[in-house]
Amino acid sequence: MNAHTKVHGAHGDFAVEAKGLVKRFKSGRGFVEVLKGVDFDARHGDLTMVMGPSGSGKSTLIAALSGLLRPEKGQVDALDVDNLWKLSPGRIDKFRLDHCGFIFQGFNLFPALTALQQVETVLKYQGLSKDRARKRATLALEEVGLGPRLHQKPSSLSGGEKQRVAIARALAKDPKILFADEPTSALDGENGQVVIRLLRRAASDHGAAVICVTHDPRLEAWADRVIHIEDGVIVSDERRVPDPNAVLASHH
Ligand SMILES: Nc1ncnc2c1ncn2[C@@H]1O[C@H](COP(=O)(O)OP(=O)(O)O)[C@@H](O)[C@H]1O
Ligand SMILES: [Mg+2]
Repeated sequence: MNAHTKVHGAHGDFAVEAKGLVKRFKSGRGFVEVLKGVDFDARHGDLTMVMGPSGSGKSTLIAALSGLLRPEKGQVDALDVDNLWKLSPGRIDKFRLDHCGFIFQGFNLFPALTALQQVETVLKYQGLSKDRARKRATLALEEVGLGPRLHQKPSSLSGGEKQRVAIARALAKDPKILFADEPTSALDGENGQVVIRLLRRAASDHGAAVICVTHDPRLEAWADRVIHIEDGVIVSDERRVPDPNAVLASHH
């Protein structure tokens, strides 16, 4: 165990604990229920993988857990917060800014900013001075192997490099919870492997609770825990021993 994982909040080993999450969307004159009473938890230091086919509710689950999308029913406890959805919208945003990192399939980078600026911006928004933000951002980018790319904009970076910028941006603030939504879907096997290994390290070395949703079963090899969701219901939940050196076979 490393030093990070010993600093746990009010919920012990659990970074996130959710009970009875129900999320419905309007559909024609009625509703579709996309989360049908989901119980979910994730531990500090674990790479928790949520697998399920497209449309099974994975992105909706992440949004409900992270304070982005209010569920109709249920409760989310996260770090020291009991019932995240009882907080004011401003406090929910602050919680997300202070403690959560996000990585998405589409990278979500600002086209006009260099790699360094993408990461610095988040840190400055968090209140770091210009100098400290620059140092932290540089280190974070070096940690993902982008030391030589600091001053390039997204248009001159490959897909794998863009995703590494997004990971550096998420990890630079040392988040306690890292949400990744299909982080490897837009990447080839080789770049996908770089990304999943970085997520593995965020859990093992930084002690983050990494919650990664994907429909790619090949990512299982790196996980401490694999949860399957189908049609808004969790159908299985198993702990396993991760293989940090697993190889993600190329698509080609
Ligand atoms: N904002 C929305 N309005 C209406 N339906 C939605 C909305 N977001 C998602 N859905 C529907 O909810 C279901 C689950 O979506 P999602 O959580 O994105 O699944 P996944 O991430 O597993 O592919 C899908 O059928 C989707 O069409
Ligand atoms: Mg999705």
